[in-house]
Amino acid sequence: MKVTWKLPDGTEITGAAENGQNLMQAALAHDVPGIIGECGGTLSCATCHVYVDPAWSDKCGAPEDFEDAMLDMAEERRDSSRLSCQIEASPDLDGLVLIVPEE
Ligand code: FES
Repeated sequence: MKVTWKLPDGTEITGAAENGQNLMQAALAHDVPGIIGECGGTLSCATCHVYVDPAWSDKCGAPEDFEDAMLDMAEERRDSSRLSCQIEASPDLDGLVLIVPEE
């Protein structure tokens, strides 16, 4: 699948993610600035915070309870916030657009 990350300065990075790969790992593989993934995807850092483009919110789904609690640690949480280590690449999400927060 392909993912596009929109950066705060307006630039976009589009790259491939393997099915089953989480989208924090995919962001690191494509050197997306602002996605750090400090905890390695163990849901304990919130440094993989993204906003899901509104057109994709239904397909991406809502965060599970623990992710939801961790999102409270993220700067500038919004309704569209997700932790990208908890979104798994799949054919259904081909073309997904994620917005990288300023912080
Ligand atoms: S990489 Fe730490 S919560 Fe996602």
